[in-house]
Amino acid sequence: MFINRKILTLDEFTIHQLRQFPTATGELSSLLRDIGLAAKRINVEVNKAGLVDILGDAGAVNVQGEDVKKLDVYANNQLMGVLQHGISCAGIGSEELDDIIVFNDDVSNNSKYVVTFDPLDGSGNIDVNISIGTIFGVYRRITAIGTPCEKQDFLQPGIRQVAAGYIVYGSSTMLVYATRRGVNGFTLDPAIGEFCLSHPDIKCPPSGKIYSVNHGNFFQYAEGVRKYIDGCQKKDKNTGGPYTQRYIGSMVADVHRNLIKGGIFMYPATTDKPNGKLRLMYECNPFAFIIEMAGGKATDGKNRILEIQPTDLHQRSPLFIGSSEMMHELENYLNA
Ligand code: AHG
Repeated sequence: MFINRKILTLDEFTIHQLRQFPTATGELSSLLRDIGLAAKRINVEVNKAGLVDILGDAGAVNVQGEDVKKLDVYANNQLMGVLQHGISCAGIGSEELDDIIVFNDDVSNNSKYVVTFDPLDGSGNIDVNISIGTIFGVYRRITAIGTPCEKQDFLQPGIRQVAAGYIVYGSSTMLVYATRRGVNGFTLDPAIGEFCLSHPDIKCPPSGKIYSVNHGNFFQYAEGVRKYIDGCQKKDKNTGGPYTQRYIGSMVADVHRNLIKGGIFMYPATTDKPNGKLRLMYECNPFAFIIEMAGGKATDGKNRILEIQPTDLHQRSPLFIGSSEMMHELENYLNA
């Protein structure tokens, strides 16, 4: 069998990166491996989602007898489990949980990172076979190593993330993660069960043709946002408009596409949701970090997302994110 040894697996890649830092402890590589393992397990269940009603799950046949584990709870438990058993994480914050979980055992208390995640974003799309995803952010804790982590370790501005990433469960399954050294994408090779480096050193094109927004909320958006959206639909020799509108309703898939192809994704404030819908800690911050490391921009319409000081684990924020030149154009409308 031909094996292409030029292709690095996720583990090989992180170890190569590690070797370039003689003082590195390997905790981050280990943490990424843990997340990769959870992602593979979640992927197996996501791929079976349509079969659950036919086959049942762990003996619990559904056909409306319910009792089948919800996939987002399953995803949450997988991530929590690998991070608790690993050597790199002192505690987690999850979109699924009201409060942080402090692991508080000897190994975890001696770990230097805490992790925030949205275990299964876009879960409303599971039933209709549309891409969904997992999003995560990694922070270096600010409390002393050797003690249990605390909420203050989590309530740090996104700029303090040391890494952030996502997994998109789509036509293929991909894990993309960013550190300050850049953004790299790995595609799951189902034949060997490994994430393989398929998209090295991802850069978000400075401009693109795609804008992504929920048009159903159009009349609830602020005037500047409405004018920008109008502008996206017009012929404009400066911007290359009109743009193409693409919005799946699964942020991971929408932002992933725009990261690769160039584009802008918006979830603005609405009159019903004055702070928007997306969560700062679990959705906005990780994506803002990834996009910025790839050369793009992310704001809440006024402030750089990564500089917002969070006050609540579950706080929401409007989000505008994407290619730098398109973001600049948007800002001209918002500031007019
Ligand atoms: P959920 O996980 O509840 O399905 O929410 C998904 C998020 C995000 O991924 C997506 O972009 C956005 O909500 C879609 O919201 P609207 O349906 O309001 O546009």
